[in-house]
Amino acid sequence: MFPVNRPRRLRKNKIIRRMVSETSLSPDDFIYPLFVTFGRNVKKEISSMPGCFQESVDEIVKSAREVKSLNIPAVILFGIPEHKDEKGSGAYDDQGIVQNAVRAIKDALPELYVITDVCMCENTSHGHCGIIENGDVVNDPTVELLAMEAVSHAKAGADMVAPSDMMDGRVEAIRAELDDHGFHDLPIMSYAAKYASGFYGPFREAAESTPQFGDRRSYQMDPSNRREALREVALDIEEGADIVMVKPALSYLDIISDIKDSFDVPVAAYNVSGEYSMIKAADRLGWIDGDRVMMEVLTSIKRAGADLILTYFAKDAATVLNS
Ligand code: PBG
Repeated sequence: MFPVNRPRRLRKNKIIRRMVSETSLSPDDFIYPLFVTFGRNVKKEISSMPGCFQESVDEIVKSAREVKSLNIPAVILFGIPEHKDEKGSGAYDDQGIVQNAVRAIKDALPELYVITDVCMCENTSHGHCGIIENGDVVNDPTVELLAMEAVSHAKAGADMVAPSDMMDGRVEAIRAELDDHGFHDLPIMSYAAKYASGFYGPFREAAESTPQFGDRRSYQMDPSNRREALREVALDIEEGADIVMVKPALSYLDIISDIKDSFDVPVAAYNVSGEYSMIKAADRLGWIDGDRVMMEVLTSIKRAGADLILTYFAKDAATVLNS
């Protein structure tokens, strides 16, 4: 009888499909990004990211509570300070916006895991991820400030820090500074393979961090490079990264897969703003089924090898998974 092999036998009904499914998603996989801004009673929807908001500290606590109630274990915080300057001083101010949000969330919800994004771009007047000299970001002086920022977040009560700046040597400097201040047990999740991507567009509206001149190509990676990602990850692990991240996720599934095969630390993937907004937009136009595509995309990121997924879909996907 032709054919002997009939893969369709294992697709016959829901039960057998469930039994042979190779990838499963859970709210445990998700980290939800939150944007904290100054003021009180502020909850402003980000026009290019429907369903995402800039929120003042009092409001962010309510959002964090909602995240926790959906069984999502963690949030990552981004801050929009009232004042920006050349040196991004809000980033390492113990009374800075992120520091205040961390204290408020940990106070109200000690069991929600709070990660902070460690970077300068939301705090600098020029929008770059570090200190500028002669028209470009200078590496080593920037790294010193990033280490101060990480310690300041740790003192506020952050559970983990996540440097996203792509300066060389920053994981080592942050590790040393955290250890010096007694935070030996605080893990670092490094944005290890972070590409210079057009998919960050909506985030820059959300975080008000668009570079005022030039772009980020002198520090973020070239999208055409694959082997270089392994080198970036190897360096970050040597320097003390506990978790390594690939960003963005969807156009970089090959990178996620390579890293998963080559290293034994947990791999995170950042399903970035543009990836979210495209699906939301197409769903609004009635061109795709947004929920279905969301689950397919998140499954593909997990299947590629991500252990953790940072995603603006976390609440929507957890709602589907919890039902
Ligand atoms: C800060 C940072 C960015 C993102 C996360 N951290 C923006 C950038 O590098 O311009 C992007 C996140 C997203 O697009 O969802 N350096």
